[in-house]
Formats: sequence, structure tokens, C-alpha cells
Amino acid sequence: MAFIIAYAGKGGTGKTSIAGLTIRYLIEKKKRVVLAVDADSNSCLNEALGVKVHTTIGRLREESLQSVRGGKERIGGMSVEQLLEYQVQQSIIESKGFDLIVMGRPEGPGCYCAANNILRKHIETLSESYPYIVIDNEAGMEHLSRRITQIVNLLIIMSDPSARGIQTAKRINELVDELQLKIDRRVLLINRVSDDIKEQLKTIAENSGLSVAGFVPYDSMVLEYDLYGKPIIQLPADSVAVKEVFDILDKFKIP
Ligand SMILES: Nc1ncnc2c1ncn2[C@@H]1O[C@H](COP(=O)(O)OP(=O)(O)OP(=O)(O)O)[C@@H](O)[C@H]1O
Ligand SMILES: [Mg+2]
Repeated sequence: MAFIIAYAGKGGTGKTSIAGLTIRYLIEKKKRVVLAVDADSNSCLNEALGVKVHTTIGRLREESLQSVRGGKERIGGMSVEQLLEYQVQQSIIESKGFDLIVMGRPEGPGCYCAANNILRKHIETLSESYPYIVIDNEAGMEHLSRRITQIVNLLIIMSDPSARGIQTAKRINELVDELQLKIDRRVLLINRVSDDIKEQLKTIAENSGLSVAGFVPYDSMVLEYDLYGKPIIQLPADSVAVKEVFDILDKFKIP
């Protein structure tokens, strides 16, 4: 079974960037294939990873619904179940060291629960084929109740160095308890932190019942790569963000 790492947190706290660097970490340190899951309907994990998205689960679903509406009950002799299985396989984007699967946004007025449901149904099968799965979630907490996976081995809750960020992290942490999600370990990672406020942030976080896994410093290269559309996964190995994220991940002793 795969070791599953998921990201959550307030908007703009760095979930996608740090998920991208986590994928790089697993590829470099564990030397095994990673399944990257972009579960944000406003997806851009592919940009962090430097790959193009040719299709999403949401889009494939729309297409097959249209075929069904068009009178083709079965497509190529497949049942709906088989079709979905096939679609999940079809939506996997292969790249060097990792595969990417994108949930995508709804094409019509509907919600993206449907794509989410498809993904949830198949993630178990997928987790038998990949040693690592990294899930980049959308901002906020709604995704927790729509949970894609039953089990998450490591939930990394991201925050910026603000009281509001930590407050959101606290609420996420509480919701995990309320929903009784099966999460082996959850930690807080505070991003864009300058040295002088680490201690204060740590105290605020601990008073909110959160365990701080580490601080990622502000790294102008992260922003620069983002601005110029360069994949963050290609940051130089000595960039401060890469070094710090790698050090933090080392401490988790991921199997
Ligand atoms: N350590 C850092 N130093 C400097 N800039 C950073 C750092 N981490 C992230 N950023 C920048 O902050 C912005 C938000 O990052 P990112 O998109 O990863 O956040 P997010 O939590 O995924 O956002 P969203 O909630 O919109 O999905 C981006 O422009 C990114 O380049
Ligand atoms: Mg994001």
C-alpha cells in the first residue's frame, strides 16, 4: 500500500509549491514512482511539476456522460464501471519519476463531487500500484468531508506566518477529529517565515493544539519561478526552500 501524504491549509499558504517539492524529495530520496494527485478544482500542481494536462477526470466524465446521453449506453462494450476504471487509467499523465492525476473542474454547472467520487473509488486500487501518493488539496476545509482517501499517513497543514493562517490550521485540525478521519500523523508547516518570529509562531501554534513540523523561509526564487512559469520542481538543489523542505521531510522518516 502507498504511503499517502496530503496537504491542506488556507489559500495561498504554499500547499501546491510544497507538495511539488515533496514529490521531488520522494523521487530523489526514495527513487520510486510517485503518484501526484491534484485534487484542487482550480488546479495548478502540473505547473509546479512542469507537465501539461491533456485531460482530467472531470472532463473524461463529462465526455462519457455525453456519449450516454447520445444514446450510447455502453461505450466500446464496456459497462459504466469498466468505463470509469478505464477513464481513471486514461487520465494518468506520465512523467519522469512521477505520474499525475488531475481531478479537474466541473464543465457544467454541477459541483465537482462527481469527479471526486470517481477518484475516491479508484484511489485504493491506485495505492496498490504506487509506493507514494501526494495529494494537493484546494484551500479551506471542504475537501476534508469529501475525503478522497480513507487513510492518510501524513497530513501536512500549511499556514502562512499569520494568526489567521494558524487559526484556519486549527480549525482543519479540529475538523479532522470531528470527522474521525484516519490520519496517522498531522503536523503544521509554516511557510514564508523569517527567523525572528519563529518562536512566537511556535507558541501560538502550540497553544492552538498544533504540532509544528518546521518553518520554510521566504525564498525569492520560489516566487520568481512562479512568476515566470518555471516549474518549482526544477529549483536549484541549494535553494533555501528546497533545502528546508528536504530537511523537514527527512525528520518524518517516511518508509
Ligand atoms: N517559501 C516561499 N517563499 C516565497 N514565495 C513562496 C513560498 N512558498 C510559496 N510561495 C509563493 O506563494 C504563492 C502561493 O503559493 P501556492 O500556490 O503554492 O499556495 P497554495 O496554498 O497552493 O495556494 P491555493 O490555495 O491558491 O491553492 C505562489 O506565488 C508561490 O510562488
Ligand atoms: Mg494550490
